[in-house]
Amino acid sequence: MLAVITGASSGLGATFARKLAARGYDLLLIARREDRLQSIAREIGDMYHVRAEVLAADLTDDVGLVSVAAQIQQAADLGLLVNNAGFGTLGYFFDADPHTQEQMHRLHVLATMRLSHAALANLVPRAQAGTGIINVSSVAAFGSSPQNVSYCATKTWMNRFTEGLAIELGAKSSPVVVQALCPGFTLTEFHDVMPMDRSRIPASLWLNPDFVVDESLRGFDRRAVFVIPGWRYKLLVWVMKMVPSGLMRWASIRAVQRYKQPKRT
Ligand SMILES: NC(=O)c1ccc[n+]([C@@H]2O[C@H](COP(=O)([O-])OP(=O)(O)OC[C@H]3O[C@@H](n4cnc5c(N)ncnc54)[C@H](OP(=O)(O)O)[C@@H]3O)[C@@H](O)[C@H]2O)c1
Repeated sequence: MLAVITGASSGLGATFARKLAARGYDLLLIARREDRLQSIAREIGDMYHVRAEVLAADLTDDVGLVSVAAQIQQAADLGLLVNNAGFGTLGYFFDADPHTQEQMHRLHVLATMRLSHAALANLVPRAQAGTGIINVSSVAAFGSSPQNVSYCATKTWMNRFTEGLAIELGAKSSPVVVQALCPGFTLTEFHDVMPMDRSRIPASLWLNPDFVVDESLRGFDRRAVFVIPGWRYKLLVWVMKMVPSGLMRWASIRAVQRYKQPKRT
C-alpha cells in the first residue's frame, strides 16, 4: 500500500515516512524542499526496500495543490494520507503579515480539505480495512492563545473537520479511518522556522517525534479519532475542556502579560 505524506522533508513528516516504511508502505513524500525529500527517500529506500518517490510542491499554491490532489485520487494502491505540512507564527494578529496568515489558512485548512477529499474519493469506494487519513493537528486546537490566533483557529478547524469525517464514515459503516493527531511541543524544525527560543518551554513538556508518531500509528490501528500523545498533554486537554471558557480566556491573557513579548532566537 502507498502512504502519501505532506511536509515529509523534516520533523514529524520525515518520522512518519521512516515508521510507515518500516511497516512496509511504499511512500510518496511531498514538501517544497526537493533536495531534502530526495535524501530522505534514498535513505528509506536503502534501509527498508520500499518504493519512495518524491513530489516537490507548495501546497499553498493552487497549481501545486491540484496536481497533488490528482495524484492522490488516482493512486490505485493508496492506503494512507498524512496531512502533516504546517507552520506556526509568533506575534499579535493585528501586527502580523496578512500574507503569511493567509498562507497558514491555505496550508492547514484548504490543503487538508482538498487532499482529504481526493483521498476519500479514492478510499471510500474501495472499502479496505486499515486505510485512512491522519491529520496532524495540535493541542493548540483545544484552546485559543494570544500571539497564536490563526494557528489555534486552523488546528481547531482540523479537529472539527476530522471528527465530522469520522461521523460520516461511521454513518456509512466505512472501514476507512480518520484521525486528528494533537501533539504538544515536539522537537522538530517547527520552532526554528517560527523562530522561537526553545528554552522558554520546560524540558518536561518536549516530546520526541518518534514517540508522537508511534502513538499516532498505535491510535490508527485502534481507530482512535483523537490522539494526544503523552500523559501531561492528555491532562492539559482534560483541564482545558473542564475549565469555563471565560476563565480560560483570563488565564491566557495573564500568561501572555507575564511573559511579555516572546524572545526571538
Ligand atoms: N513541533 C511541534 O511542536 C508541533 C506541535 C503540534 C503540532 N505540530 C504540527 O506538526 C506538523 C509538522 O510540523 P513539524 O513539527 O514536523 O515541523 P517542521 O519540521 O518544520 O516540518 C514542517 C513540514 O511542513 C512542510 N511545509 C511547510 N510549508 C509547506 C508548504 N507551503 N507546502 C508544502 N509543505 C510545506 C515543510 O517542508 P518544506 O519547508 O520543505 O516545504 C516541512 O516538511 C505541522 O502541521 C505542525 O503544525 C507541530
